[in-house]
Amino acid sequence: MSLFWLLLFCAHLAIASSLVKFEDNDLRNKKQDGMYLDLYHVTKSTSPFTFSDMFKKDEEHVRYLKSRLDNKEDVRISGTTSSSDKVRGPKPVSIPLKSALSLASGNYYVRIGLGTPAQYFSMIIDTGSSLSWLQCQPCKVYCHDQVDPLFNSSTSKTYRTFPCSSPQCSSLKGSTLNDPGCSSKTGTCVYSASYGDSSFSFGYLSQDVLTLTPSETLSSFVYGCGQDNQGLFGKAAGILGLGNDNLSMLAQLSNKYGNAFSYCLPTSFSASSSKEGFLSIGTSSLTSSSSSSYKFTSLVKFPNKQSLYFIDLTSITVAGIPIGVAASSYKVPTIIDSGTVITRLPMPVYTALKEAFVKIISKKFAQLPGVSILDTCFKGSVKTMSEAVPEVQLIFQGGADLSLKAHNTLIEIKNGTTCLAFSGSSGFNPIVIIGNYQQQTIKVAYDVANSKIGFAPGGCQ
Ligand SMILES: *[C@@H]1O[C@H](CO)[C@@H](O)[C@H](O)[C@H]1NC(C)=O
Ligand SMILES: *[C@@H]1O[C@H](CO)[C@@H](O)[C@H](O)[C@H]1NC(C)=O
Ligand SMILES: *[C@@H]1O[C@H](CO)[C@@H](O)[C@H](O)[C@H]1NC(C)=O
Repeated sequence: MSLFWLLLFCAHLAIASSLVKFEDNDLRNKKQDGMYLDLYHVTKSTSPFTFSDMFKKDEEHVRYLKSRLDNKEDVRISGTTSSSDKVRGPKPVSIPLKSALSLASGNYYVRIGLGTPAQYFSMIIDTGSSLSWLQCQPCKVYCHDQVDPLFNSSTSKTYRTFPCSSPQCSSLKGSTLNDPGCSSKTGTCVYSASYGDSSFSFGYLSQDVLTLTPSETLSSFVYGCGQDNQGLFGKAAGILGLGNDNLSMLAQLSNKYGNAFSYCLPTSFSASSSKEGFLSIGTSSLTSSSSSSYKFTSLVKFPNKQSLYFIDLTSITVAGIPIGVAASSYKVPTIIDSGTVITRLPMPVYTALKEAFVKIISKKFAQLPGVSILDTCFKGSVKTMSEAVPEVQLIFQGGADLSLKAHNTLIEIKNGTTCLAFSGSSGFNPIVIIGNYQQQTIKVAYDVANSKIGFAPGGCQ
């Protein structure tokens, strides 16, 4: 893995037009074999949101998930599930969640506070990664443009870093798949989180007070104080990792609230992308009055890959009719992920879905050339087409389903051009990723303690 990233780095460096050498030895990434890797920073201008950028980043996120899948060392750290199973918080903590479109990202963010006194930040939630981090003063190498003022750890009375010998530092390998580094000057643990060929964060492993709501705080939240941050995250301050791993925010909150969370992602890319959903943490968030409406499917266990959430897709129907591919075509690793926008399907499954869909829609709407990763587009808007759009259902083992409305199935990428919001996953090792566009407005419950995922319609707008 280290070699893989090193090679990607080299490729990256070779094409980078503007390199600034990082001279502080502090953040050199010490490799176990004694090799040192200097860190470089690629100067990049930040630009407003475009679909083509978003699709590029989405592809990168898919590559990141695939690389996690291919890596043999993605060890889930045992002990979180069972210990928190018994705990049921009196009430869940629920915080508003919004589309990060205004932050130039196709993801979703929540506002949380960090430090004493609390400083507040817009953080992308990501079920596909575990370590949380945010951009941190003095940004020794690079911080991208963000909407909030940067976190200044020296103004927080409760901030501290971890020594290299701490168990938290040893947990980094399992959470990030990268070996921790160690600052030669201060003996401070250095994390490196990488998400793709141009997305990463490096910095100090730290701890501080996390404020979820004014009345709900976690006194010793472990996260990364990022000194070099690039890539996928638009103008967000950082990432909250909700993966199933003992450094994730979920694991850290599970002692208090139980090992479960739920969310509802509001619609995005529409006129009013200021709509609000929620992120709710705690076992009791799944047993509210509405819990009866959840239909559950079991989490699938992949040896050594349990920090990601795998489920088992068994069929897809269009207007109630199965798209007619062999059951074996669905038998690939299937990840449900908040950080991928567009759902990826193995090519034979995607092709069958597309054909069934086009057969119905093309009677009324002319087809247009594809755009980026979306190859099935029509002349029309989601609104004008919604009458004609057949229901698409993704059906999971045990009968749970995602019943998709027009706003989950179609995406209007420019005025009058609307595309089927699915893509075939290219390359070797086919994989299914259930992306966030297909989860919009549906309540999704991650009952990690009981190893199941549930869906319920009508969770938010
Ligand atoms: C961070 O806070 C410290 C202490 O208040 C202050 O001296 C320093 O200038 C701040 N750093 C930045 C970059 O604002
Ligand atoms: C996480 O689990 C690993 C492996 O069991 C352990 O070495 C590490 O100390 C744990 N980390 C924390 C922060 O509890
Ligand atoms: C979008 O297209 C419709 C009809 O094709 C037109 O009436 C409308 O003015 C267009 N809107 C924009 C923002 O270009």
